[in-house]
Amino acid sequence: MSANESPATPQQTATYESAFMKACRREPVPHTPVWFMRQAGRSLPEYRKVRDGIPMLESCTRPELVTEITLQPVRRHNVDAAIYYSDIVVPLKAIGVDLDIKPGVGPVVERPIRTREDLAQLRDLIPEDVSYVTEAIGLLTRELGSTPLIGFAGAPFTLASYLVEGGPSRTYENAKAMMYGDPELWADLLDRLADITAAFLKVQIEAGASAVQLFDSWAGALAPADYRHSVLPASAKVFRAVEGYGVPRIHFGVGTGELLGLMGEAGADVVGVDWRVPLDEAARRVGPGKALQGNLDPTVLFAGREAVETKTREVLDAAAGLEGHVFNLGHGVMPSTDPDALTRLVEYVHTQTAR
Ligand code: CP3
Repeated sequence: MSANESPATPQQTATYESAFMKACRREPVPHTPVWFMRQAGRSLPEYRKVRDGIPMLESCTRPELVTEITLQPVRRHNVDAAIYYSDIVVPLKAIGVDLDIKPGVGPVVERPIRTREDLAQLRDLIPEDVSYVTEAIGLLTRELGSTPLIGFAGAPFTLASYLVEGGPSRTYENAKAMMYGDPELWADLLDRLADITAAFLKVQIEAGASAVQLFDSWAGALAPADYRHSVLPASAKVFRAVEGYGVPRIHFGVGTGELLGLMGEAGADVVGVDWRVPLDEAARRVGPGKALQGNLDPTVLFAGREAVETKTREVLDAAAGLEGHVFNLGHGVMPSTDPDALTRLVEYVHTQTAR
């Protein structure tokens, strides 16, 4: 039985009533909630210490370590939500795709998917493939108290971009060649990834995640018509698959100014916005009935306290008329960010928005 079906414990009720969950549901909040994409790991010295000598993907399979790394930014920064420490390629690795995360590079796939035969690498994901996730989330929800845990997965397009290219890319030429040149194979690939992603999100929700974020980080490479025709159906399938749990579903990508309406249409409750579109304009593009998340430029954190406050004020002013706002950066925390700047930013947003 999932946590959402059992009678609520006092802790579950407190989580449900937290500022983050309320903002996602577009209800009044005591203060604007804050969390940071890539808050776990990256800039924290205590992260580097516990990760020392342990390869990234191996670290994701150790429940105690996952729990510790997920909690580190919550303890340090007083953020309003935790994000589960993992990576978008973890479910692919779990079903046997031969891939690794190379430090300073990103995910690298041994045998890129280019033909129909290559699709055989992608079998369905079952909960037993990722039992360490269930175990870690069980540990985490006990430790987190009323702080919500955000589960996540990579969206079909962003996963496909790594699988077809074989690694990070600036142009996505192989992925787009398949999308334009063999639309049937492309649709089958994305559909299969949608099922894997949905299964992976279900594992996280059933284990106790309070919300989920679908990272379509690289969708901004697509024109709206191509996104609508060749990508949206697969992402929408993922959102539909988890709709019944009633947990907030966040949909995020970078450079997606022209896609914001479509990303909402795919089934999100909350649309993540990068720093290129002010939140009031983003709200017009997304339309009513959705909360927004974002969108301070992560490089602002290198500019000193006064600049951070000025630029944060601009984000909060643009967010003033939104139905719901979750404060975040416009993309992930950069590794060389001063952790103290993040702590001060949380404090600043909380005091500026206290009601
Ligand atoms: O947000 C969090 O703090 C939770 C953890 C998290 C990681 N990856 C851990 C990680 C999350 C949410 C991700 C998502 C992810 N992974 C995305 C989507 C988010 C985004 O930034 O757009 C993407 C595209 C990936 C793929 C990936 N994994 C990249 C591009 C890299 C960076 C490579 C590098 O070293 O610069 C990774 C590795 C990775 N994932 C690290 C962490 C903490 C760094 C590796 C390390 O610490 O050894």
